[in-house]
Amino acid sequence: MKYFRIPVVGLLGATLLLTGIQAASAHEAPGGAQAPLRTLADRADLRIGTAVDMAALADDTTYRRTTGREFNSVTAENVMKWEVVEPARGTYDWSGADALVRFARDRGQVVRGHTLVWHSQLPGWLTSGVADGSIDAAELRGILRKHVTTEVKRYRGQIQQWDVVNEVFEEDGSLRDSIWLQKLGLSYIADAFRWAHAADPKAKLFLNDYNVEGINAKSTAYYDLAKRLRAEGVPVQGFGAQGHLAIQYGFPGDVAANLDRFAKLGMQTAFTEVDVRMILPVDEEKPATQAAYFRGLLDACLGTRSCKSFTVWGFTDKYSWVPGVFEGQGAATLMDEGFGVKPAWGAVREGLAAGR
Ligand code: XIL
Repeated sequence: MKYFRIPVVGLLGATLLLTGIQAASAHEAPGGAQAPLRTLADRADLRIGTAVDMAALADDTTYRRTTGREFNSVTAENVMKWEVVEPARGTYDWSGADALVRFARDRGQVVRGHTLVWHSQLPGWLTSGVADGSIDAAELRGILRKHVTTEVKRYRGQIQQWDVVNEVFEEDGSLRDSIWLQKLGLSYIADAFRWAHAADPKAKLFLNDYNVEGINAKSTAYYDLAKRLRAEGVPVQGFGAQGHLAIQYGFPGDVAANLDRFAKLGMQTAFTEVDVRMILPVDEEKPATQAAYFRGLLDACLGTRSCKSFTVWGFTDKYSWVPGVFEGQGAATLMDEGFGVKPAWGAVREGLAAGR
């Protein structure tokens, strides 16, 4: 059992170790002739996942091969989100989601469903209808129920974990002031879990958010919510910490203890969107620090049987969402833009090889 008890000391030690790891050349197969990450993850009884960019999957052979070879879990980076699957009211586009589920099935990968209820990437017809009053609260609840039911049913039996609600709390632990809270009240959360469970009773249903890796006001709000929902018999089975870290902010404290308290509620845990960004340019030291952060989250996951999957939010800087969203930051993934592995790749590899 490995615990990440004293982050500062642990990270320093890991950083020193990792400075010895060399990045492979851009043309070498990732990991060289070594066993793929997914083989090591299988031995550790862990799913190692990546978010998948469907345009890259279609157009970029190296990206497609690496996705299939190295990972045993995939998450749709965008194609299962509401704005994509129902661009006009009642008109569905499942092409991207179907393609990903097929890709995964062909390669023996599981799929994390992402995401059913969120305040972001909602279709325009929905947000404008709510804003101009043409969709009232009663109708909105029906629309949400139909959305959750339709999407979960479509992939029934093919999704291992669903992110049912995403990012519903603010940093201070208060509920996010989304259209869902404003129009439907707090009950939308329990409703969404009940609808999803009815549509696919076998899928594990997750809460998911960022800045909830360690113990803080926000993760405690999730803990309290999960405890209450489970006491009420609401089918919520998992807690997902996204894991979008940045080396300039430090490594979160109490990650293992945080996972542990959800485990004690009888829940599964997961890291669902891990990347570790940095202020550009990259220098000699930042990649080693980044590697230690990846390893820190991975070790916390391997340290508890409740943690079933560790998913990175893209594995190559070539397609990472970070530079487009965080100005002046990037280099957040395991591989550079030429698919050359970084120290972080070696750190994840070594962590998986060490096992639980
Ligand atoms: C991001 C995608 O990576 C981008 O391509 C998209 O433009 C915006 O969304 N938290 C989440 C993910 O739950 O869905 C987000 O994904 C990243 C933050």
